[in-house]
Amino acid sequence: MLLDGGHPVVLESFLDGPEASLFCLVDGRTVVPLLPAQDFKRVGDADSGPNTGGMGAYAPLSWVPEGLVDDVVARIVQPVVDELADRDAEFSGLLYAGLALTSEGPQVIEFNCRFGDPETQVVLALLRTPLPGLLAATANGTLAEQPPLEWADGAAVTVVLAADGYPGKPRTGDVITGGEAEGVLHAGTRRREDGAVVASGGRVLSVVGTGSDLEAARADAYERVAGVNLAGAHHRTDIALRASRGEITVPTS
Ligand code: GLY
Repeated sequence: MLLDGGHPVVLESFLDGPEASLFCLVDGRTVVPLLPAQDFKRVGDADSGPNTGGMGAYAPLSWVPEGLVDDVVARIVQPVVDELADRDAEFSGLLYAGLALTSEGPQVIEFNCRFGDPETQVVLALLRTPLPGLLAATANGTLAEQPPLEWADGAAVTVVLAADGYPGKPRTGDVITGGEAEGVLHAGTRRREDGAVVASGGRVLSVVGTGSDLEAARADAYERVAGVNLAGAHHRTDIALRASRGEITVPTS
């Protein structure tokens, strides 16, 4: 039917730029973007090995062109939100645009209707405007009345600690120590009857560090990772490394 209507159908397209995630609060008509972030999908350093649910993330993205967020909202997110509203299918919630920043401009890889993991850990670590009020405004349709969002200076980095075997079958049941420290967020964990906290999933913990810049945030995150112990656990050691060295660029046409 699409083909009969003369619509182009893209079977495959090479996207030549780095990826970024942009989360937008949407109350039906108004779009409020949060800070863009970048996550790391491959299990191993230097993007080696199989894909995962995400092994780490950082924000802000110092390498994105100025005006990128406004451009993505104006050309991608707002038209989608307006079209949904015009079709009596108003969207209210969190619209997550997974983007490739290519030489031909931002391209959408995926939309999700939820916060993304692990990017949310770094975006919310930098958000100073209280989140509950923003979520209430999203639900009540009053985002347009909200003052501009406030963000902390500096950067945030999160490193995911994964169980032995992940992203294949993870080994569960091992005891975690150090998991109660500041910056350690639990994901695949559970408390045993004897009170011990044990691994119960593949991506076990997400450890968040902050600092005045990416290098400082990386140092903080990895110092915190070193304080957590889980037998057989693994994590990437290069989260935000290339960005902190200024090695990421958006290609130009
Ligand atoms: N960060 C990828 C996702 O949440 O789907």
